[in-house]
Amino acid sequence: MSLQNVKAVILAAGKGVRMKSDRPKVLHELLGRPILDFVLRNLRLAGVREIIVVVGHQAENVKAAATGCRFVEQKEQKGTGHALLCAQAELKDFSGDLFVVAGDAPLVGVETLRRMIEDHRAGKRDATFLSACLDDPKGYGRVVRDKESGRFLRFVEEADATPEQRNIPECNSGGYVFRCPAIFDALREIKPDNKKGELYLTDALGLFVALGRTVEAVRSLNPAEIYGINSRRDLVAATNFIRWKVLEYHMDNGVTVIDPSTTFIEEDVTIGQDTVVQPFTILRRGVVIGKGCEVGPFAQIRSGTVVEDGAEIGNFVEVKRSRVGAHSKVKHLTYLGDATLGSRVNIGAGTITANYDGVHKHSTRIGDRVHTGSNTVLVAPVRLGADVRTGAGAVVVRGDIPAGTVLVGVPARPIGKKIQPLTKVKRKRA
Ligand code: UD1
Ligand code: CA
Repeated sequence: MSLQNVKAVILAAGKGVRMKSDRPKVLHELLGRPILDFVLRNLRLAGVREIIVVVGHQAENVKAAATGCRFVEQKEQKGTGHALLCAQAELKDFSGDLFVVAGDAPLVGVETLRRMIEDHRAGKRDATFLSACLDDPKGYGRVVRDKESGRFLRFVEEADATPEQRNIPECNSGGYVFRCPAIFDALREIKPDNKKGELYLTDALGLFVALGRTVEAVRSLNPAEIYGINSRRDLVAATNFIRWKVLEYHMDNGVTVIDPSTTFIEEDVTIGQDTVVQPFTILRRGVVIGKGCEVGPFAQIRSGTVVEDGAEIGNFVEVKRSRVGAHSKVKHLTYLGDATLGSRVNIGAGTITANYDGVHKHSTRIGDRVHTGSNTVLVAPVRLGADVRTGAGAVVVRGDIPAGTVLVGVPARPIGKKIQPLTKVKRKRA
């Protein structure tokens, strides 16, 4: 669904001093995805097509991370109100509703954004903000309401708040919908009369009220979604919030997660039904795992990897940018990088693909039903045809090994006899 006559501005010019980092705050990652990316994605999923990002600190890096947006620069960070003013020229012909959100608040959900715009329109308001009552409101701007009527009066930032105001649990999320161009008229009137000496966007809403314009809150149904990330500690809290959502999503899809508290599944991972994820497993962004697989314990599957149906990735195994064919087993102490495995392969304990020569990465192809002996090293580029077998400790140094070859030693050499394909040999089940 695309929303008509709506645009958005993301405020992302700040340095993020409290992060103590060389990296701009909005580019820190939650489960493999930059904070800013969450904000962008959710606005787009809510139906906003045109997004302007206010950049400043390390502007070029932030721009590179926000594809499909327009940018305005805030050269000096003089506060959130000043940041929005920087976008005024870009919006000079726009009359409609404007989302203004902080680039450091990635958890505000799509449904909430939709509720904000719907409420704003239904109430015919000049401004709508998202708030939540937090058990620990420390650090947030508080919502000051009229004691009798309960109506919104203004915000007060923590640094400027009286002890009594600090006890107010209702906090400002830093996300708003404004009617344009009225908000810019208000912004031009506000003054930097606060402890930080900044132009506060929040003061524009107080001014609206003073001028008799309509301002109200949409309350978040899940208070944690308003978390703003200012510090490394906040990063952990936000990561956990998303981590649980991701885990619940996979469990709801029919994946068994034995111990969610030690399982890290990043964003955009696909896992088929009846797959079991054992404890202490990390699945990086974009990994695809089929149905009926088993992963872990103590496995790390990195980006660019596809694990086909029924395959097993066991303990102390790292797989990177590889494809593991159906019903193949990689069960113990292995590194697979840039490798493609056919189906029903058995990778012996301790097998390593040596994919990096210090300059380039090289690929390894392993045919159907190959068995590698324990501690095999496959020095890439190397290709093992179907049904190849390697002896324990074999070091296979580059090349193309024909199907059915048996290799042993260092460097590995064929021992002359070709073996029958494994499917035709009577064997006990492993
Ligand atoms: C802000 C709100 C506070 C709210 C909180 C929610 C104000 C004055 N305060 O406080 O009421 O509870 O968010 O998380 O708005 N930014 C710029 N340019 C600037 C300053 C900030 O682009 O000159 C950007 C930052 O990069 C950040 C966002 O605006 O993404 C919010 O700024 P931040 O300094 O984190 O505000 P808070 O102190 O958290
Ligand atoms: Ca913040």
